[in-house]
Amino acid sequence: MCLRFSYSHSLPLLFLFFLGSIPSILTQQNEDPTIKTMQDFSGYPVVEPPHPFVSNSLSVDAQTLQKQIDELSTFSDTPAPSVTRILYTEKDILARRFIKYLMGLAGLSVREDAVGNIFGRWDGYEPELAAVATGSHIDAIPYSGKYDGVVGVLGAIEAINALKRSGFKPRRSLEIILFTSEEPTRFGIGCLGSRLFAGGEALAKALKTTVDSQNISFLDAARSAGYAKDQDDLSSVFLKKGSYSAFVELHIEQGPILEEEGVSIGIVTAIAAPASIKVDFEGNGGHAGAVLMPSRNDAGLAAAELALSVEKHVLESGSIDTVGTVGILELHPGAINSIPSKSHLEIDTRDIDEKRRNVIIEKIHQSAIAIATKRKVNLSEFRIINQDPPALSEKSIIEAMEAASKELNLTQKFMISRAYHDSLFMARISPMGMIFIPCYKGYSHKPEEYASTQDIANGVKVLALTLAKLSLR
Ligand code: GLV
Ligand code: MN
Ligand code: MN
Repeated sequence: MCLRFSYSHSLPLLFLFFLGSIPSILTQQNEDPTIKTMQDFSGYPVVEPPHPFVSNSLSVDAQTLQKQIDELSTFSDTPAPSVTRILYTEKDILARRFIKYLMGLAGLSVREDAVGNIFGRWDGYEPELAAVATGSHIDAIPYSGKYDGVVGVLGAIEAINALKRSGFKPRRSLEIILFTSEEPTRFGIGCLGSRLFAGGEALAKALKTTVDSQNISFLDAARSAGYAKDQDDLSSVFLKKGSYSAFVELHIEQGPILEEEGVSIGIVTAIAAPASIKVDFEGNGGHAGAVLMPSRNDAGLAAAELALSVEKHVLESGSIDTVGTVGILELHPGAINSIPSKSHLEIDTRDIDEKRRNVIIEKIHQSAIAIATKRKVNLSEFRIINQDPPALSEKSIIEAMEAASKELNLTQKFMISRAYHDSLFMARISPMGMIFIPCYKGYSHKPEEYASTQDIANGVKVLALTLAKLSLR
């Protein structure tokens, strides 16, 4: 593979040694023989004492980061400006290589688990302590944009680079995570990597028999990408609660609030509760000319009616926070002169109020049953794929993010995330927080998605400073 990039902004380690401040306190602090040898050689301490982190020494290389974002967007199965990068496809594998390359350049030690979650670690000077983690995803739904998830992965690498350039030394190790399949595109389940972290026993079992729309099994697809080698058992991916002392994700807002209000940083206090449902109707089909209207049981019209009832139930919830979408609607056999004999819908519904969201799911179910009866079609499947509770950010992490953005003189706003993120599942195993940056008109999941280089740089600075603070705790 020919990788079309070359970045070389990580400072040689030795330079950092010489940046070292006053050499007095340290010599007895480190018994590690390698460090001792290096100290003897240079005459300077190579491990600095814990020091309060100085925000004005942080410089983010925004231009290089923007180039990396642009470069990553070229690993796509659809033409620019759209991005399509589906799990375990060739473009996904190339994009992963790019990220691992950049992690390596940043001096991180890189490892991967059985489903391709990628970890890049910068060891702290107390490496036995639980690490502080950050990260996001690089998979992209069909015809989406180049910032969703990517800002939280490339931005995290640049945050580490900025901390390294500043001379900062983490106490707790800092770890960047690239999460596998945050998007549900290929196997129908979102946040696959982070769900498994959180001990998704049922998911690990289900993945043994899960296939994509081309009938390729999850395990075969993972193997073709170099993962899940001899393992059918994916429980090796599970992480213990407490594996990380904190998790912070940087992400574009995917909504319009920050831009409209001219605020630089969103501090996420909670993530709304998502759910997704698959529905199949079956009728007799038949000839579009010969079968008269009273004799029909049209599975396509049943699907259309259910789609409208999803909208009706959501609008009747009484809250602007309830949303519902039918993003997939397929008709079989898909010929203009054939009455649909089968239909398939995939429904996404969310709310910040879990109970209210659950009421919507129940109403959709009742509607599906009633429509099937009325239209004399068979409701052959009504399957709730996921019905997740919301997640709350941890107070101490909110405070760290708030302090960081204040120290950087950036305006900030507390907000909820209506989109889901891997943070939703990281919250099950670790204290969690999220940093949002503005994006143009709130556009996301479409090619027009855009965040300015300046806004990204602000987010990276807040992330870097937050990680620094959390690492010293
Ligand atoms: C994440 O991509 C979501 O759909 O919220
Ligand atoms: Mn997304
Ligand atoms: Mn995302």
